[in-house]
Amino acid sequence: MNSEEKKLYDLAVEHLDTAYAPYSKFHVSAALLTESGKITTGVNIENAAYGSTICAERVAIFNYVNQGLTNDPIKCLLITGNTSRPISPCGSCRQVMAEFMQADTKIVLTNAKGDYKEATLADILPYYFTDGDLVDGRNK
Ligand code: THU
Repeated sequence: MNSEEKKLYDLAVEHLDTAYAPYSKFHVSAALLTESGKITTGVNIENAAYGSTICAERVAIFNYVNQGLTNDPIKCLLITGNTSRPISPCGSCRQVMAEFMQADTKIVLTNAKGDYKEATLADILPYYFTDGDLVDGRNK
């Protein structure tokens, strides 16, 4: 982890308590950094209707969109949780990452005790579906 990523890590760990997870009691926190140095964060937000829950990674990415930052590429996304191994994002979050990040965008998987694993989007979601496929496959 470089110094920028360490800053994301400290922020994400600091925000872990903010997670709204009364059902699973499983807190997750994410922070992302843009090329120009902006940071957005997110925690998981659960719901009594369990399927309406949203993961921390998507909250961080949707905050990025909500703040009008989509012309400022994401440089790195970091995730943390109280897991024994560095936490790994769910499939839905990986697909949302594919919408707003590049194949080589860095993803740092961590846990609250400081273990970490560095990857790229392509590492964790190879052969992903994109807008290019949508254009290709359109009926004429
Ligand atoms: N969760 C996340 O926020 N991110 C992940 O990468 C995995 C799962 C949340 C969703 C739910 O609130 C809780 O963790 C248990 O699945």
